[in-house]
Amino acid sequence: MDPQQIAEAVALLRTGQLVGFPTETVYGLGANALDPAAVERIFAAKGRPPTSPLIVHVSDVAMARSLALVWPEAAERLAEHFWPGPLTLVVPKRPLICDRITAGLPTVGLRMPRHPVALALLREAGFPIAAPSANPFTGLSPTTAAHVRESLAGRVALVLDGGPCEVGIESTVVSLAGPEPMLLRPGMVTLGQVEQVIGCVRLAAEPSAGAPQESPGQHPRHYSPRTPLLLARHTALPSRGRGVFLYWSKPSSEYTSIALPENPSECAARLYGTLHELDRQGWDWIAVEPPPGRPEWSAIRDRLNRAAAPGAASVS
Ligand code: TXA
Ligand code: MG
Repeated sequence: MDPQQIAEAVALLRTGQLVGFPTETVYGLGANALDPAAVERIFAAKGRPPTSPLIVHVSDVAMARSLALVWPEAAERLAEHFWPGPLTLVVPKRPLICDRITAGLPTVGLRMPRHPVALALLREAGFPIAAPSANPFTGLSPTTAAHVRESLAGRVALVLDGGPCEVGIESTVVSLAGPEPMLLRPGMVTLGQVEQVIGCVRLAAEPSAGAPQESPGQHPRHYSPRTPLLLARHTALPSRGRGVFLYWSKPSSEYTSIALPENPSECAARLYGTLHELDRQGWDWIAVEPPPGRPEWSAIRDRLNRAAAPGAASVS
């Protein structure tokens, strides 16, 4: 990436503007995390409710420590193993992180991304960058700069193009702020990998209607394409409409069928791009074969279950 473009992005961030930038997971919609007015613009641009906290991106562990009130031993070890990379650590926050970023929670989610453009941006800025995925609230996360430009046109000052995202789905989120480590969102850094480093990790309970949410981002309607999406086997597809079927084991003899990669990492890298493309093609429905049950597929199962949640397609 041209250093001139990084400098331009930093100049925009310094004046409180929003910048779209690539990370290895998905594209982020960034603002200076130490500028509350800029953070406010993220919520406005995404149509995001104030109850959903933002991840703060850091250039290194020292910057993470400067934002955390407590930096537990487990955070140090996980950062050593997985940073820079697709793992977000939730820890108690210092007051310089405003309540708006954390949706009023006393904790903050911190992540050092490994995409070279994200790292160059963070290093040149010298300040932390708050960034959710760069899509309208509840929509599909963007995995190319074009996805960001299409869905947030006019609402972002500049989009840095770092090519398609290598991981393709959002980071794993682990909370280290409670009595025991807890997995708040599965991702391509798997539960097993995290447990190898810090021992037993509890799973967050699924949010139930009306109950206070342990992880506000566990909104059941996250990550949806506009086209209705359902999980179904080739023998149980809808009998009406123009549909498309994404499968691992067996195609449909009646409907257009697209094979998904059998390797979970390759599948994650392709998933959102495929759904964005199908959304553009105007199908009546998208059916996806239920993903394999093995642990390395848990993040893909999570995203597809949310995308297929009742009412998901009616929310844009
Ligand atoms: O891969 C990613 O994490 C991408 C890239 C841009 O870094 N970002 C992303 O952000 O997916 P977003 O806003 O779409 O999802 C952030 C999620 C929240 O929905 C929530 O689950 C969790 O991170 N989170 C952030 N701060 C938290 C906190 N203080 N306590 C609990 N969960 C938190
Ligand atoms: Mg998101």
